[in-house]
Amino acid sequence: MITLGIECTAHTFGIAILKDKKFLCNLRDMYKTEKGGIIPIEAAKHHEQIKHPLLKQSLDTANITFNDIDLIAVSNAPGLSPCLLQGLRFAKELSKEHNLPIVPVNHCLAHLEIGEITGAKDPVLLYCSGANTQVIAYAAGKYRIFGETLDLGIGNFIDTFARYAGIGFPGAPKIEELAMKSKNKASLIQLPYSVKGMDVAFAGLLTNLRQKLESKKYPLEDLSFSLQETAFAMLIEVAERAMAHLGKKELLLGGGVACNKRLCEMAKIMCKERGAKCFVPEREFLVDNAAMIAFLGQKMFKSGIKIMPKTKEFNKLDIKPYQRTDDVDVKWKK
Ligand code: ATP
Ligand code: FE2
Repeated sequence: MITLGIECTAHTFGIAILKDKKFLCNLRDMYKTEKGGIIPIEAAKHHEQIKHPLLKQSLDTANITFNDIDLIAVSNAPGLSPCLLQGLRFAKELSKEHNLPIVPVNHCLAHLEIGEITGAKDPVLLYCSGANTQVIAYAAGKYRIFGETLDLGIGNFIDTFARYAGIGFPGAPKIEELAMKSKNKASLIQLPYSVKGMDVAFAGLLTNLRQKLESKKYPLEDLSFSLQETAFAMLIEVAERAMAHLGKKELLLGGGVACNKRLCEMAKIMCKERGAKCFVPEREFLVDNAAMIAFLGQKMFKSGIKIMPKTKEFNKLDIKPYQRTDDVDVKWKK
């Protein structure tokens, strides 16, 4: 069985081709800026321009033709409406043209489910992406959220700080580089630490960092280092609390911020101390990617979920920009 996955929810447009359990390709192209954040309409234009060339490149890389494809999986939730619309329109066009079933996939669940390829069986998931920061575990038919950010997602928080410092989008990888240049305990600056039960908050930390940045008293390297130490300690604390509370022995990291080496290091230390296992997928499966959409789409299809063209369901199939992780009925795991 060959599945075409399409990722489109925000800055990244991606296409992946999955043949049974093997990825034949996992390509993506990201909308970036030199200065300033992401403009949804501009990101959607980016997707529109890249979709056909990227599809051609994907088929070439996988060494197949479109006729070999059996299923189209597309991320229709959650995300930026103009971007989601581009992706869904493209998927529907392809589905109609080739009379193929579509499976609509929740992007956040795809970030989580792809963790399966690391070998994790029943983990607590620390989902750290741009817009989301959640501690999740699967129980009784749903992914339950045990803790989450009360304001900004961890990635958006770091990217916003980077923007204040004059760094373009995405800024968090550059903050990581800066932090490495300041790697000694003496440069740790005291910052507000905000954990409430299993929830975290970053807005106060962001304001404080902005003030320190504007005061010009602190080197950006030291601010970056202290930001990471503080924010990641908060994440690891809530993840550990969830593991203790639920009695789980596995931690799985997901989302683009899990590319951060220091976050992974802290997660591994915490797990080692608890006698637990820590799983981190490879980078290409952590940042926004279509492989995870194809992976979950295929699983959903095998459990009986599909929408055929020329049906009422197909016409009704729409984007869901605000769908939450715990709104989804996880039928394919039952
Ligand atoms: P969501 O999945 O919640 O819809 P998203 O799709 O924007 O949000 P991802 O693609 O999973 O999120 O992750 C993107 C985020 O990861 C960005 O905020 C980016 O700056 C951040 N990121 C990427 N690399 C690193 C890194 N090395 N260190 C920290 N953050 C990183
Ligand atoms: Fe994402």
